[in-house]
Amino acid sequence: MKHLISPLDLNKTEIDELIAIGNKMYENPKDYSSICQGKKIATLFYEPSTRTRLSFEAAMLNLGGNVLGFSSADSSSAAKGESVADTIRVISAYADIAAMRHPKEGAPMVASQHSSIPIINAGDGGHNHPTQTLTDLFTIKRLKGRLDNLTIGFCGDLKFGRTVHSLVQTLARYYTNIKFVFISPEELTIPSYLKKEVLEDNNIPFCEVRLLDDAIADLDILYMTRVQRERFFNEEDYVRLKDFYILTNAKLKSAKEDMLIMHPLPRVNEIATEVDEDPRAVYFKQAELGVYIRMALICRLLGLL
Ligand code: NCD
Repeated sequence: MKHLISPLDLNKTEIDELIAIGNKMYENPKDYSSICQGKKIATLFYEPSTRTRLSFEAAMLNLGGNVLGFSSADSSSAAKGESVADTIRVISAYADIAAMRHPKEGAPMVASQHSSIPIINAGDGGHNHPTQTLTDLFTIKRLKGRLDNLTIGFCGDLKFGRTVHSLVQTLARYYTNIKFVFISPEELTIPSYLKKEVLEDNNIPFCEVRLLDDAIADLDILYMTRVQRERFFNEEDYVRLKDFYILTNAKLKSAKEDMLIMHPLPRVNEIATEVDEDPRAVYFKQAELGVYIRMALICRLLGLL
């Protein structure tokens, strides 16, 4: 049995296979509509979520399975002081697979050590978010046709943004000729473990800039992110930094015609709504594609495909 805790728990072949299955599921969803009949996914969400939780649930329902779970720590026995280890021991008897989101880094890993069913990390603190990475790779592959030879700009809260951390690790490890451009204010730069161990030690080129205008013209992909309010120690810093970047149609004038604008969502202010009409804006498509790659992942972890 296998869990998905870190994005690197999957090797490149396994990612390629998931993308291939995801493509088939996207093109012929009916062919898979009863493959998970009699199976249940538990969604254990100790932190807010719209897309991740509902896309896991939609994925399982599309596969003919069922869903159970909770959407906040307050509505589970965590509020009474139950440990993640105890919760998962019990859930293992209720469901066949579980997706867990938790504010504490490492909580899904702890759960996996006490679980007899596959555990999927659906986001742990500011650490990792491997199924968003699968969603992002699936989106890039489908819309750009390749995962190699890309210049990708990450813009916004690169310090706390777990989707950025997971995607950077995966692109750096498995794909060739990727150039990383990190666009953030001084206080929200990419963590040094990623810069040093993941990029520098492997001679992968990257640069850090403050202004989006200085980078946008070179990018094949612009990956925007929200400033992660819930991870700040004080509200003042958040208020000062939250509107540091706002992508507008005017700013997009110097971007390539086929640049993809991605965002894991939710958006707050960092992309003006006028940009939604631009054909390069693919963030809603990205959220849609997340369902199909999660369908593929569920089937794989359950040993059904
Ligand atoms: C992201 C997350 O939860 O890390 N959302 C998501 O899962 N699509 C990004 C965010 O909350 O900013």
